[in-house]
Amino acid sequence: MIGLIHPAHAQADAIDTLIKFKNQDSIAQSLKPEELDTFSRWTILNVFEVHEHRERQYKAYPVRPVLDQIFGQGWRAADEIVFSCKDGYQPSIPVAKFLAYDAYLAVASADGSPFILNNTLQNHEVVELGPVYLVWDNLKFPILLEEGAADMPYQIIGIELASFATRFPGMFPPARVSAEVKRGFLHFRKYCMVCHTINGQGGGKAPELNYPISVTEYFKPEYLKRWIDDPASLRYNTPMPALAAAIPEREKVLEEIIAYLTAMQRVKHIPPAKNSKD
Ligand code: HEC
Repeated sequence: MIGLIHPAHAQADAIDTLIKFKNQDSIAQSLKPEELDTFSRWTILNVFEVHEHRERQYKAYPVRPVLDQIFGQGWRAADEIVFSCKDGYQPSIPVAKFLAYDAYLAVASADGSPFILNNTLQNHEVVELGPVYLVWDNLKFPILLEEGAADMPYQIIGIELASFATRFPGMFPPARVSAEVKRGFLHFRKYCMVCHTINGQGGGKAPELNYPISVTEYFKPEYLKRWIDDPASLRYNTPMPALAAAIPEREKVLEEIIAYLTAMQRVKHIPPAKNSKD
């Protein structure tokens, strides 16, 4: 890869610590983390730090007032919020979750120590959390602990209101599939597309899984299941995290994800490139 710089990364470095707030395709605000002070008051938040399996305190701004100020109350009727991160991680989180639970934009460690963490879920990689890190009050709402770290993006540089169907049309399973496949699609959206693409759409942190050949075609089925369950049991030092351990009915979730990936063999297409408006 020497000499090759991915344009998205080059751009991310150029704007460095600016966070872009976008509504559909237009930019609503571009600001530095400290400018969040204009929109909301920070607080010291105690959370169970899922990536490190311990409690930690962050200096953090409650999300709802920030979004109210930047987008107006209309964001509450939007479909999802897509977070783009410097490292390619890209969760799309339903707006309903932000209305049901308290989320915060963390900008620093409360005790002034470096704003980094040791990601025990990803081969103990030490990662920068800034410019902004999305955390949830999982001590007040312990049910959130079941989901693992999927909805806790760090290195956030983009926060965008979006309709999932418009933003990621290439990820939908074919018409008339089983309920199992439909549930698998929802799990995949939550736990896998944060890092992976399907038909070129999704996160940019990990390999494409469907196009031109689906992983369900070249992985032996028993190994695919084992990979998602415990990647390090197949590949030493792999950076892929295992599917979160506390997910309810985890075995069923695993099978439904594979059913979705298998159904996607029938819809392989790379959507035409749009003019980049990033
Ligand atoms: C935090 C990011 C991340 C998440 C979340 C993630 N993966 Fe991965 N995945 C990776 C990385 C990185 C690799 C490449 C690993 C390697 O080469 O060792 C990978 C590799 C894979 C591969 C092997 C691809 C190949 O051809 O070698 C499959 C299959 C896969 N992931 C499926 C999934 C599924 C299904 C989920 C959701 C349950 C998921 N991944 C969630 C990061 C992630």
